[in-house]
Amino acid sequence: MKTILITGGAGFIGSHVVRLFVKKYPDYRIVNLDKLTYAGNLANLKDVEKYPNYSFVKGDIVDGDLIRKLFEEKQFSGVIHLAAESHVDRSISNPTEFVFTNVIGTVNLLNAARHSWKEQLEEKRFYHISTDEVYGSLGEAGLFTEETRYDPHSPYSASKASSDHFVRAYHDTFGLPVVISNCSNNYGSFQFPEKLIPLFIHNIRNNKPLPVYGKGENVRDWLWVEDHARAIDEIFHRGRVGQTYNIGGHNEWKNIDLIRLMCRIMDRKLNRVGGTSEKLITYVKDRAGHDLRYAIDSSKLQRELNWTPSLQFEEGLEKTIDWYLENEAWLQEVTSGDYQKYYEEQYLKR
Ligand code: NAD
Ligand code: TYD
Repeated sequence: MKTILITGGAGFIGSHVVRLFVKKYPDYRIVNLDKLTYAGNLANLKDVEKYPNYSFVKGDIVDGDLIRKLFEEKQFSGVIHLAAESHVDRSISNPTEFVFTNVIGTVNLLNAARHSWKEQLEEKRFYHISTDEVYGSLGEAGLFTEETRYDPHSPYSASKASSDHFVRAYHDTFGLPVVISNCSNNYGSFQFPEKLIPLFIHNIRNNKPLPVYGKGENVRDWLWVEDHARAIDEIFHRGRVGQTYNIGGHNEWKNIDLIRLMCRIMDRKLNRVGGTSEKLITYVKDRAGHDLRYAIDSSKLQRELNWTPSLQFEEGLEKTIDWYLENEAWLQEVTSGDYQKYYEEQYLKR
């Protein structure tokens, strides 16, 4: 029976990966290690927390001793590393936190894996989840490929770029069996309502202003989170050691066009007169160092592992909006701090 460590499993993407692995692989033991920052909520995993092959450990990847002991105790054969500080705006207000978690935390995991994995390396796998933001910004044309030069602009993307370099260095220097993927912007259920799509759904519903940075002309390539989780499953099991895979949705949207589409869908769902929600659009000061355009060439992943996105964006966006409208209680819980109480009830009072 394999024991797999998933870090950051209580976050947005991590919770989808945990859910997929726990359900699809009953013969794996899945250990979810998460610090439960503002972005990590065990409420995201209520439907799998009782599965016998799932367990949760509350802990900080910056704590090297804890990580080393966890590796000794659990004898992991695989790591899927998602834990990170992930919000660009927070990285602008507090860059240092991003260095601790994203860089030092990653190096702690690499060290623990390196010391714990002395033999049968072909059966081990350290999978680092990264972002397309490490490549910097595109102009009007072109796509990020796996060969695009790293050129990060925000403290978030700089910290992720640094962690990617450490992962590759541990492969080249110590022979650690690593694989990396760099994915575009994800959307879907359980995303903390601070990122564009869930924030704007929440604000439209509550008739609050929609703060569009700059002119709203920045372009992002959106991928449904469950398609990302499927790609992670493929790459973890079948990706080639030492390789990088780009993951993207072939789905570029200018922010303002995406926001207008969301407004139209929400007018319909909330039975509002057409054009009502668009009136909430408020142009605000641009984000410092705001990357103009991200777009991913994921042909390597499609060619080697036969992965393609499953959902059309309009369909995925509708599903996502429906989910947030139906899960107002979740939104209240994750923003109110009630989830901390939930954690105590579930795990400390047993
Ligand atoms: P998220 O912010 O929703 O979740 C991050 C999780 O990591 C949370 O559960 C948090 O509690 C945990 N965490 C943070 N610091 C920790 C620490 N020091 N120790 C242990 N746990 C800690 O992030 P997300 O959007 O789910 O992103 C997950 C990963 O995917 C990140 O590595 C991110 O860089 C990458 N990524 C995200 C996107 C995206 O669009 N969201 C796109 C590409 C790549
Ligand atoms: P975000 O969801 O923070 O993801 P990222 O910065 O990692 O791409 O933002 C997506 C885009 O939306 C980005 O161009 C910034 C913009 N944005 C706004 O215009 N207003 C907002 O309130 C937020 C959170 C983002």
